[in-house]
Amino acid sequence: MSLAIRLEPAGGEPLHIRIADSLRGQFEHGALGPGDPLPTSRDLARDLGVSRSTVVRAYEQLTREGWIEGRVGRGTRVSDRPTSAKGRPNWDLLLTERVRGQSPEYADVLRMLSEPDLLSFAGGLPSPEFYPEESFQQITSDVLRHQGTKLLQWCPVDGYPPLRSWIAERVGCEPDSVLISSGSTQALHLISQAFVEPGDTVVVEAPTYSGALRAFRTAGARIVSIPCGPEGIDVDRLEATLGRVRAKLLYVVPTYHNPTGSLLSTEKRRRLLAVCAQHGLPVVEDDAYATLRYDGPHVPTLRSLDDHELVLYVSTFSKAIFPGLRVGWLAAPPELVRRLSALRNVIDLFTNSIAQGSLYEFCKRGLLEAHIQRVRPLYAERRDAMAAALRRYCPSLQFEVPHGGLFIWAQLPAGIDSRRLLEEAVELGIGFMVGSLFFAEEGGRDRIRLCFACHSPEMIAAGIRKLGLALKQVRPDAEEWRNAGADDLIV
Ligand SMILES: Cc1ncc(COP(=O)(O)O)c(C=O)c1O
Repeated sequence: MSLAIRLEPAGGEPLHIRIADSLRGQFEHGALGPGDPLPTSRDLARDLGVSRSTVVRAYEQLTREGWIEGRVGRGTRVSDRPTSAKGRPNWDLLLTERVRGQSPEYADVLRMLSEPDLLSFAGGLPSPEFYPEESFQQITSDVLRHQGTKLLQWCPVDGYPPLRSWIAERVGCEPDSVLISSGSTQALHLISQAFVEPGDTVVVEAPTYSGALRAFRTAGARIVSIPCGPEGIDVDRLEATLGRVRAKLLYVVPTYHNPTGSLLSTEKRRRLLAVCAQHGLPVVEDDAYATLRYDGPHVPTLRSLDDHELVLYVSTFSKAIFPGLRVGWLAAPPELVRRLSALRNVIDLFTNSIAQGSLYEFCKRGLLEAHIQRVRPLYAERRDAMAAALRRYCPSLQFEVPHGGLFIWAQLPAGIDSRRLLEEAVELGIGFMVGSLFFAEEGGRDRIRLCFACHSPEMIAAGIRKLGLALKQVRPDAEEWRNAGADDLIV
């Protein structure tokens, strides 16, 4: 192969562009053809007397244009593709590091859980069986009949005013402190886009809600984790960490935590706020599960205990009613809501106004309250059914029974990997979430999250019995076998 690179005399163009231009010329004139090898970036850099990163950038440019391709073990070669395909973009190189760097684990686990007919304890969802479909249908049709023209028009970016006022009253603030978002996921996304520059530190609980981890990571955050156990976040560790680390935000789920189900006591909430006030550190309080309280103490929100305007409060109707609404909200000081609204304007202008209008009627007519009262004992029954089944069929698992929310967080016996257990479980027709998805760093491989909301007590018992069998498959000496014996296999 002869490669004669002539770097045209310097115009305004960067060196890597001039190298790419020269190589492109050789491809176009046939001096180098499909499959021909190119020198390594190191060799070419030496020959040209430029830095290696300059050559790497030139190669990246030509790869993006489809002229060359790199293959493991074969080095870089002129692309085999026909000329007409040369303009085809190379998505991997075009995508930003934020998107390319996303961990494939989440998608992998979702793929495993997509088996048809799986009895799944994986999702973080309320039960479709209990959705107030009929009343919602009626309300939506009333709303369209009476307010259709208005609602089908633009809606203010910060939310449908009557719903905004209704939420404000419930949260205990003025309407201009509320921003209605497309699910609380959007509120978390807005917060991360508004506050996090790449490299900024966000402090979270470990484990924590994986969607929040993804939102902060996508904004380029460096995540610092504070342990969160059955009593919630370890406030002593938080205090010690904030003494060392300059953080931009703290994200917590203090009430019926996802995934642990823990409830942070009032006393610890006060301490957490005091610690954050010392550092002027904003706290994102994610209160997605607040309405799903089954027993135990009634604990005030961090927001209601906050004297320093530290708390950015985020919540949603997804768990109380159904996630398909995509209506959540954020409560924060009005000047911040204005800034976040401006940012949100760039994303999607406003939340679906028919969903907001219908939801407002649903709340105003007292149907939200009635729905919550109806489902609480049903979920409590399912929680108890799952706890009883775990004690019976999976005695080697350790867990606490949560006072609210949707999840039981269980610790596996030593030596069992949750991913391996999931493979066996899926074979037997059940699914759950692996613990590692809830950790920013290493951790959680010995944990699983089980959602108890979506199946009847009988189905829960049947599913947990299979979990016992799966445990037995991955660890033949496990205790489970005694309780989930051979005749129990038919469930
Ligand atoms: C703690 C927490 N926050 C937010 C969400 C997302 O809710 P939404 O449907 O409002 O986007 C979830 C959903 O699982 C959650 O568990």
